[in-house]
Amino acid sequence: MSAAPAVAHRSFRRLHKGDLPRVMEIERSAYRQCWTEGIFHDCLRVGYECWAILEATEIVGYGIVSIGAAEAHLLNLCVTPARQGCGLGRELLHYLIGWASDHGALAMYLEVRLSNIRAQSLYRVFGFREIGRRNGYYPADAFLVREDALLFRLDLVGEGI
Ligand SMILES: CC(C)(COP(=O)(O)OP(=O)(O)OC[C@H]1O[C@@H](n2cnc3c(N)ncnc32)[C@H](O)[C@@H]1OP(=O)(O)O)[C@@H](O)C(=O)NCCC(=O)NCCS
Repeated sequence: MSAAPAVAHRSFRRLHKGDLPRVMEIERSAYRQCWTEGIFHDCLRVGYECWAILEATEIVGYGIVSIGAAEAHLLNLCVTPARQGCGLGRELLHYLIGWASDHGALAMYLEVRLSNIRAQSLYRVFGFREIGRRNGYYPADAFLVREDALLFRLDLVGEGI
């Protein structure tokens, strides 16, 4: 009889400056147009909620949320490509929604690329609804084409997740 494969223990913790090399490694490999390290520094400096999800001791994903005036904005949600499709994005989003709800947010907003069907599926699973579209929101790529963003909203009041 073969032994069942070991499942790495998952946990959450806040990101620190010292995590940014690993975060940038994931960020560069996961996005065509990624954030700079300076943007992550700024997120930490201004006190945005910057959370990592870990398997054992390794950061495998992160999420950045700003909260103000009872609104949470999900600014980044990313899982390392090697571990995508294993439920990490779902776990991370569940954690961030719970955290935002526990800290007074009544709704969560986010923008997602029109072409990012995978992320849109994830958001819809959680009950996010499309409430608008921002034309040409994302900067031009190598082919000088700008991409639209879909604006999603999730009501957190009475959210039974
Ligand atoms: C989007 C992202 C965070 C999802 O994380 P993940 O760990 O791969 O997703 P999960 O394994 O938790 O899957 C959760 C849900 O996402 C959707 N999903 C996952 N893989 C998918 C695929 N290949 N195609 C379509 N939907 C998919 C499904 O709805 C899935 O729910 P299900 O398991 O009930 O089918 C991850 O793919 C990622 O980091 N992508 C690059 C960065 C990015 O685009 N971030 C979002 C910016 S708005």
